[in-house]
Amino acid sequence: MALFIKNGRVVDPSSDIDDFLDVLVENGKVKEIGKNLKADLSVDEIDAKGLIVVPGLIDIHTHLREPGHEYKETIKTGAEAAAAGGFTTIACMANTNPVNDNASVTRYIINKARTEACVNVLPVGAITKGLKGETLAEIGELKEAGVVALSDDGRTVRNSEVMRRGLEYARSFSVPVICHCEDTFLSGGGVMNEGVVSTRLGLKEIPPIAEDIMVSRDILLSTWTGHPVHIAHVSTAGSVRIIREAKARGIKITAETAPHFFSLTESSVESFNTSLKVNPPLGSENDVKAVKEGLKDGTIDVIASDHAPHSTVEKDVEFDNAAFGMVGLETSLSLSLVLVKENILTFSQLIEKFTTNPSRVLNIDKGTLAKGADADITIIDPEAEYVVDKNMFKSKSNNSPFHGCILKGRSVYTIVSGRVVFSH
Ligand code: DOR
Ligand code: ZN
Repeated sequence: MALFIKNGRVVDPSSDIDDFLDVLVENGKVKEIGKNLKADLSVDEIDAKGLIVVPGLIDIHTHLREPGHEYKETIKTGAEAAAAGGFTTIACMANTNPVNDNASVTRYIINKARTEACVNVLPVGAITKGLKGETLAEIGELKEAGVVALSDDGRTVRNSEVMRRGLEYARSFSVPVICHCEDTFLSGGGVMNEGVVSTRLGLKEIPPIAEDIMVSRDILLSTWTGHPVHIAHVSTAGSVRIIREAKARGIKITAETAPHFFSLTESSVESFNTSLKVNPPLGSENDVKAVKEGLKDGTIDVIASDHAPHSTVEKDVEFDNAAFGMVGLETSLSLSLVLVKENILTFSQLIEKFTTNPSRVLNIDKGTLAKGADADITIIDPEAEYVVDKNMFKSKSNNSPFHGCILKGRSVYTIVSGRVVFSH
């Protein structure tokens, strides 16, 4: 099985490549990359003229809802949504039902993904049993079963002693920890960011310090235990500043944000569109500005979708009662390309945040087009303009506030192990 991708602009931050090159794929691996390559006539060809060829995108933060909530998303449909969005690898969070806090759930996900998913699916295990924040999950067992990271995402490990022990165990098994930072005593019952908009709308508020305080705590615990942490979905100016300062002091932490945190502000909630209800909540203009600055100066290493599918049962209700979360796999790349247009990131820096950096956080052999690497490749048409149509999503859910928006740039071929799994 071979594939020849010719005439494209190849951008691979892992090898510092940005040049017009051909890529030859054989037996699921990158065989060669160079100028004017020749391939057998029998080989399948993609003419990438006018397109950009990059390492397959990695989403470090996806919620698939299987097992337990298959009516929202299955491993199969989530993987299809990923492929449509240009992702070749996704890490799926542990807040399924049952929770992925033991080896049998991890194995179930891995086996299901092997037969049904068109992209690589890497399970994230829970830090605590049932995400209850009380007793540690069987971390060694989870690691052996194949989790790539640990996280109670969706919830914070409120008890600092439990979090400390979790980090110590994670350290001894060399598993990265992804922190959902939220002081639930401060955020409890809130549905949107605290500020003038929440006052005007009369909605219960979540103060930004609910995030900032836990970011500080987890950085302190990380320093104390000597185990690096990855901060999930950074959304506030405060946490960007705290992470920046910690990095400047040499603390080995990493951080991600999601496209909605640099594309939308709290004022959009005036529409009461429940797709805009996310946790952490959409911030102020100042928060958005800080998140962009954090992306620009490298404080924020990764862009992750936080794809959180919910059905109409959870979303076609009053704002107060709606579930938190929005789907993101199919819009993340296009929304992030705006950062290049706004001169916040170069194209290569953007791709770094979708490939090399998440791969480094998870310590996986992905995110590169180096010779011999898995042929996971995304081909982007930077000029393709389209109207987001949530009814066309591959995802089972359509809770996207971007329905109807005109976006520019998208994946036109998504290739996993040398096989085209999505083409537009
Ligand atoms: O908005 C969110 N939705 N934030 C989370 O932390 C969890 C997620 C979900 O699982 O729906
Ligand atoms: Zn999440």
